[in-house]
Amino acid sequence: MKNFYLVENPLIKQDVTILRDKRTDPAGFRSALNRVSYSLAIEICKSFELDEFEVETPLEKTKGYKLSKQIVLVPVLRAGLSMVSSFLEMIPQAKVGHIGLQRDEKTLQPIDYYYKTPGNLGESVTILLDPMLATGGSAVASFNSLKQQGANKCVLACLISAPEGVEKMNAEHPEVPIYTAALDRQLNSNGYIMPGLGDAGDRTFGTF
Ligand code: PRP
Ligand code: URA
Repeated sequence: MKNFYLVENPLIKQDVTILRDKRTDPAGFRSALNRVSYSLAIEICKSFELDEFEVETPLEKTKGYKLSKQIVLVPVLRAGLSMVSSFLEMIPQAKVGHIGLQRDEKTLQPIDYYYKTPGNLGESVTILLDPMLATGGSAVASFNSLKQQGANKCVLACLISAPEGVEKMNAEHPEVPIYTAALDRQLNSNGYIMPGLGDAGDRTFGTF
């Protein structure tokens, strides 16, 4: 798998277990997803470039740093919304776009219903936030739209990936790094990730 980063530590493993557990209620689910999102944000930030400048402390001048590029977070509605607050806390100057996609339950193809991103994607690092990379259809369609709007430095942050989705992303957007907290076994016949965690949107918002 190209450009694939499995982000693991004991806290992430514990939280992924909470997320998988069918007894976890929406409040517990959102809170575990927030914590894993912090870890993903920290890992992704390691690849960011910095500009140096001089900063004056109360005692003397010294070298300071700031991110070279504007960061744009783009959650895929609905489930991606639950990753935004953690990423924004880590990268407070980030701008936020939104992509609305709903997977058709029969064809598994993404149907788009909303798109709004900031204007300067060509100058930015664009991070797509979506907890689930299943068939990869939603992620591929999202990056198609983002690239049409000029995005040229993109990253995917997801919680759980299926091998099928990683392969599709590698085929369609090979330069986009995928950061994920778990790589699961396979998709089932309904396009759900196994063992997975079920429907991320429903479990986040209690719509079951
Ligand atoms: C889920 C998930 C991804 C998509 C992944 O969204 O949040 O966007 O499925 O599946 P794929 O890789 O096969 O495209 P869903 O369509 O269930 O919408 P929701 O978040 O509104 O529930
Ligand atoms: N979308 C989800 O929310 N869960 C899956 O397992 C697959 C797609």
